[in-house]
Amino acid sequence: MAQQSIFERYTVTAALPYANGPIHIGHLAGCFIPADIYARYLRSKQRQVLFISGSDEHGVSITIRAKQEGITPQQIVDKYHYLNKQDLEELGISFDIFSRTSSQVHYETASDFFTTLYKKGILIARETEQYYDPAAQQFLADRYIRGTCPKCGYPDAYGDQCEACGTTLSPEELINPRSALSGEKPILKTTKHWYLPLNEYEGWLKHWILETHTDWKSNVYGQCKSWLEQGLQPRAVTRDLDWGVPVPLPEAMHKVLYVWFDAPIGYISATKEWAAQNEQVWEPFWKDSQTKLVHFLGKDNIVFHSIIFPVMLQAHGGFILPDQVPANEFMNLEGQKISTSRNHAVWLHEYLEKFKDKQDVLRYVLCTNAPESKDSDFTWQDFQAKNNNELVATLGNFVNRTLVLIHKYFAGIVPETTSLTKVDQAVIEHMQKAPQAIGEAIERFKFKEAIQKWMDLGRIGNKYLADTEPWHLIKTMPEQVQTILNISLQLTAHIAILGAPFLPFTTRKLADMLLLESLLWDDAGKVDIILPGARINPPQLLFDRIEDEMINQQRSY
Ligand code: MF3
Ligand code: ZN
Repeated sequence: MAQQSIFERYTVTAALPYANGPIHIGHLAGCFIPADIYARYLRSKQRQVLFISGSDEHGVSITIRAKQEGITPQQIVDKYHYLNKQDLEELGISFDIFSRTSSQVHYETASDFFTTLYKKGILIARETEQYYDPAAQQFLADRYIRGTCPKCGYPDAYGDQCEACGTTLSPEELINPRSALSGEKPILKTTKHWYLPLNEYEGWLKHWILETHTDWKSNVYGQCKSWLEQGLQPRAVTRDLDWGVPVPLPEAMHKVLYVWFDAPIGYISATKEWAAQNEQVWEPFWKDSQTKLVHFLGKDNIVFHSIIFPVMLQAHGGFILPDQVPANEFMNLEGQKISTSRNHAVWLHEYLEKFKDKQDVLRYVLCTNAPESKDSDFTWQDFQAKNNNELVATLGNFVNRTLVLIHKYFAGIVPETTSLTKVDQAVIEHMQKAPQAIGEAIERFKFKEAIQKWMDLGRIGNKYLADTEPWHLIKTMPEQVQTILNISLQLTAHIAILGAPFLPFTTRKLADMLLLESLLWDDAGKVDIILPGARINPPQLLFDRIEDEMINQQRSY
């Protein structure tokens, strides 16, 4: 039995990418593609969906990048915001809005959020000593402090991490600390910050996650459990920095909200912006208990979305909490970690340029190889094999043969089903079960399983044609050929409808060939999606082979 959901409205978020660099396949496989499949599927099920993301434009990652490129933080975020927005759109990521955290509405929303927590007396003010660069006259973010790693002796470790041995550090642990701004030795200076008392929410979180969210993915649940077992500490939500949302307190000059405080509020701001642009109201998406809030993200973001942001929402009051946090692990590239600084990545903008009109190939390969429960590896060889063997030789071949034969034998008019053999019946039964089987896998965030089940429709179709050989039967048993091609065509329509969340460009093309107008999920599962007597368009190839030469060029780093 299909589980009937009582919820009809979904707020689906994809983690806001930092506007300090372009999008790569790691972002896509871990976050944007699963989120998009989910959102498209829900729309096809006619549920109300708001799918949002945007650029994360604050924090030291932006100011550091700006320094490196010798331009201002504003120039950096403008550059990457528009680039990323356009590239994601070109890949078919169907956001209702891709906003940004430098927007006016976001400044107000984040600022008001802080004020509410402050006025409710939730935030704790504390004075601590932090590294300060007297030459540059500013406090130093952890990333701006360099020094010798106490663990391995690497002389150029960051204040928060040693890149040589991977140890997480805090700035006071560094030997011979120096400022990355001036190169001078920093001094310790007192500063005041506001803290979110996560420790006070520990009991509530333990109940809410560990008891009521046993349905979360095991990688997410496990990480939450381990954080909660270690015990939570108050966490500063402000920083000494001049790039970000100013702390709305008169005594907080030159202080901004911590980027991980303001960024998730960006989801709310984006909703407000979308509502204003579309004459809608934003509140139901964040305040109606019938709305399901679903956050897609990579594993490094789990604690922020499953612990810190929920505490913020709960402390503020009036907001719903995430229903699901389907985080993924990481995708590697040719056996090595993707690295922006070493330029070891497949960049989306480069892919889109080199592989024109092949968005769906990348979507297919990244979904079939998604790091759902463990890290996965992207290789160009696998990319080529999946395209040539699965998309071209299986799916494309089946669809093409079906349409060619209908044109050849029946002049492009859909033939009628006469009597059914056991083989025909088996194919029909499989087809009837497919919408529910694939839909359930998507609703459980098992996108790999879902796309495999979809590809099985092509495998079954190919086998059906190979087993029944309509090209031989046409002379002796033309009636049976009518049945076979009718069923094959219904299967093709299923491929179009059920594949739409995964491969939106190809299935659109296919639907046009079949003259199918609507692509609603619940239209599938029937044997008369396309009625006998209807006309279909001549076939066009859906995919083409990718040759070795093209692949060898990509691997030449
Ligand atoms: N910019 C962060 C990252 O890339 C993600 C921010 S998600 C949000 O890791 F919740 F803060 F918006
Ligand atoms: Zn080290």
